[in-house]
Amino acid sequence: MMKILTELDKRTDFVNSIIKGYLPAHCEYNDELINAIEYSLMCGGKRLRPILIDSFYRLFGGLGEVVRPFMAAMEMLHTYSLVHDDLPAIDNDDLRRGMPTTHVKYGEAVGVLCGDALLHLAYETAMKAFDCDADGTDVIRALRIFGDKTGLSGMLGGQSADVIATGKDISDDCMQYIYRLKTGALIEGSMMIGAALAKASESELSNVCKAGELIGIAFQIRDDILDIYGDESALGKPLNSDERNHKKTYLSVFGLERAQEIIDSYSREATDIIRSLDGDSAEEEFIIGLFEYLCYRDR
Ligand code: IPE
Ligand code: IPE
Ligand code: MG
Ligand code: MG
Ligand code: MG
Repeated sequence: MMKILTELDKRTDFVNSIIKGYLPAHCEYNDELINAIEYSLMCGGKRLRPILIDSFYRLFGGLGEVVRPFMAAMEMLHTYSLVHDDLPAIDNDDLRRGMPTTHVKYGEAVGVLCGDALLHLAYETAMKAFDCDADGTDVIRALRIFGDKTGLSGMLGGQSADVIATGKDISDDCMQYIYRLKTGALIEGSMMIGAALAKASESELSNVCKAGELIGIAFQIRDDILDIYGDESALGKPLNSDERNHKKTYLSVFGLERAQEIIDSYSREATDIIRSLDGDSAEEEFIIGLFEYLCYRDR
């Protein structure tokens, strides 16, 4: 466990240094917006998705810098989803990553615009990967995944279904759809983008997709558990947000013990898939350690 924590710290610092290099320039007439972007993007965060892009790139033998714009872009897109998720019209939360949420600090209008800006910035940034790929084929493949996993058939589709389902008694099937998309899609997409940039085959990519789906759903179930049983100061966001927003969750349906069992079994299944991939062995060990850590994370 110590080893994975030390390695994660190192990789988090690496991601932070990359994101810093893609921050937008300050502008006299838009300083408030640029400040809000920097604030939301740079105040903490585990950086899980960029770490996954990087490690799946390495798993398939990638050595270049083409992943870097995608690492920053994915974190921008994820941060946009959080800024909007916290808005009064959605989850109405006032703490994120241990700090007041963007709309609390900058006002609701700037909060909305900041999310919009991060979404645009994510695409502008991902496009910079063309500078590192001579013929552009890997970047085009990664961009297709990026669009697919972030938009209507990915994160946004799941987030919208989640918002519309609020307070309703949805089917277990619908709940699984929401988890797979609102949280699973970005995690799955990150793993696939790393693999695609390292020229993984289509069949390898579909295995990575399956492992990502399992880890993504497990990640959201753990998020539900932390929402009730977590420690607010470690978590950096308010507890009981789901209950306050009348959400049906895996935890409310299955109870704590069964929910944790589902996390463990999904993670084991994902680990088996990773082991079957025949990737770089050091990176394989890191990824498996990361999956284990995610099952019992406290933040
Ligand atoms: C929070 O994601 C939103 C969910 C999908 C559960 P993270 O738990 O990765 O949040 P940060 O990026 O570390 O703040
Ligand atoms: C949000 O799920 C997933 C997104 C697409 C932003 P939650 O609403 O459970 O995320 P937290 O708990 O606020 O981070
Ligand atoms: Mg939400
Ligand atoms: Mg929320
Ligand atoms: Mg939550």
